[in-house]
Amino acid sequence: MELDNAITNRRSIRKFKPELLKKEHIEAILDAGNKAPSAKNIQQWRFHVFQGEAKDKFAKFCLREFGKKEDHPDVNPYAKNSFKVMDQAPVNILIYNAQPMPFPAKPDIQSVSAAIQNMLLKAYDLGLGSLWICDILYVEDEVNEYLKTDMQLLAAIAFGYADSTPRDIRKLTVEDVTVWHE
Ligand SMILES: Cc1cc2nc3c(=O)[nH]c(=O)nc-3n(C[C@H](O)[C@H](O)[C@H](O)COP(=O)(O)O)c2cc1C
Repeated sequence: MELDNAITNRRSIRKFKPELLKKEHIEAILDAGNKAPSAKNIQQWRFHVFQGEAKDKFAKFCLREFGKKEDHPDVNPYAKNSFKVMDQAPVNILIYNAQPMPFPAKPDIQSVSAAIQNMLLKAYDLGLGSLWICDILYVEDEVNEYLKTDMQLLAAIAFGYADSTPRDIRKLTVEDVTVWHE
């Protein structure tokens, strides 16, 4: 039942209270991600956690680097909001794929995505809001240089106590997305 509640009611949160998160809550979220299934049990996810001053510095860096490219015609004009959410949230976690590329990438990306979804559901279970952010990929090279890593950045997640209630959105029905063969 609790799982049903989290699956049904988890929503993307884009406004957070400034309140800091308990370290044990962040650890529980990381633990949930780390328990995900993975292709060949490689457990290819890697996490970088930013909080406190390190988060402020990192999020400002991302906003600044994104600002250098936001006028490019290929850049989604709404992406800046994702960087503002990262700046506002008390915790940012970066999610990496540790498998070297090129390698058949789909199983690795699916494995890391499973970890991300576990983390979002665990956050909800703890009374926290979250936002899965792929707009971070606009500054992928800059972030990798910041962290001195050559792993594959897949996403950022912003976490915090929700300070907004998301408006209702239309979700497709199972009938919309399913073909039965029987
Ligand atoms: C792979 C992926 C990437 C996403 N990237 C972003 C993002 O960069 N910025 C953002 O505001 N939301 C992002 N989202 C959140 C989606 O917009 C959101 O999940 C979708 O609108 C459905 O809303 P819900 O999460 O409230 O159900 C992303 C979600 C997924 C699964």
